[in-house]
Amino acid sequence: MMTDSVLEVCNLNIHCPKPKGSCDKQRGLSLLASVNLELKRGKVLGLVGESGSGKSLTCGAILQMLQDRGLDTQGSIKLHGQELNGLRGEKMRRIRGKDIGYIMQNPMNAFTPVYSIGSQFIETLRSHFKISKKEAKIQAHQALEEMNLHHPDQVMKSYPHELSGGMLQRVMIAISMCLRPSILIADEPTTALDAVNQIKVLRELERLKTECGTSVLLVSHDLGVIAQAADEVAVMRKGEIVEYADVHELFDNPRHEYTRMLLQARPGIGQGA
Ligand SMILES: Nc1ncnc2c1ncn2[C@@H]1O[C@H](COP(=O)(O)OP(=O)(O)OP(=O)(O)O)[C@@H](O)[C@H]1O
Ligand SMILES: [Mg+2]
Repeated sequence: MMTDSVLEVCNLNIHCPKPKGSCDKQRGLSLLASVNLELKRGKVLGLVGESGSGKSLTCGAILQMLQDRGLDTQGSIKLHGQELNGLRGEKMRRIRGKDIGYIMQNPMNAFTPVYSIGSQFIETLRSHFKISKKEAKIQAHQALEEMNLHHPDQVMKSYPHELSGGMLQRVMIAISMCLRPSILIADEPTTALDAVNQIKVLRELERLKTECGTSVLLVSHDLGVIAQAADEVAVMRKGEIVEYADVHELFDNPRHEYTRMLLQARPGIGQGA
């Protein structure tokens, strides 16, 4: 059966285990409760909500990156029908990057500090495609230029700490553009950027979606970005999804009180920047 669904997250729960030695039988602190999401082919799902509501945790759970942080992830996360929850090591590493691209909220964490950007870019491409170093370098150059990084040679030679957060974010997007993943998880990809580069990033996301059919999970606290880029929106609050709707429906007819509050808090036209 043909289906548009690329990633299905069902009943996702995340707990922080209780410290050793605590005696009552209750499970640890609940950080995410009963989250359901669906990414459809070539569509953007926006994820919004206040700081600390669980947006990055949701991304980390999909990428199977929370175990290292000592968190317990339960529920089902299916990519093209394949269960990801519980996948470890090499299997998950292969999926991460190639099938699931990701742009981390804190871009410093995405790179190894001791290798240059160029060597990390080239190695990433070569770990997923059978291409020569030279070919990888050409692709990397081109992708960096498309992301408005004007001196690709210099960027390639730099070490992560020598670039700004916004530049590192754009490098991550450039890597994703080359890998053409089935889904892209973009955690606040425009937050550290000025207006010109925000528009560039949104255009590239749009291109990834139309040219490669990539589905995007777009996390942003900026409702302007969501209105512009998302097809559907999930609103998160205190670890739960409180509203999930088509983007027009959500902006025109918000049903949940919290969504209304978010919309009202947004700076309107004529209210200045
Ligand atoms: N390893 C951890 N152990 C315990 N609690 C954690 C851990 N990681 C995150 N949390 C808690 O989970 C909650 C959700 O965090 P998360 O990073 O997902 O928020 P967010 O919605 O991405 O916020 P922001 O918009 O500020 O990025 C926060 O209250 C945070 O303190
Ligand atoms: Mg976050």
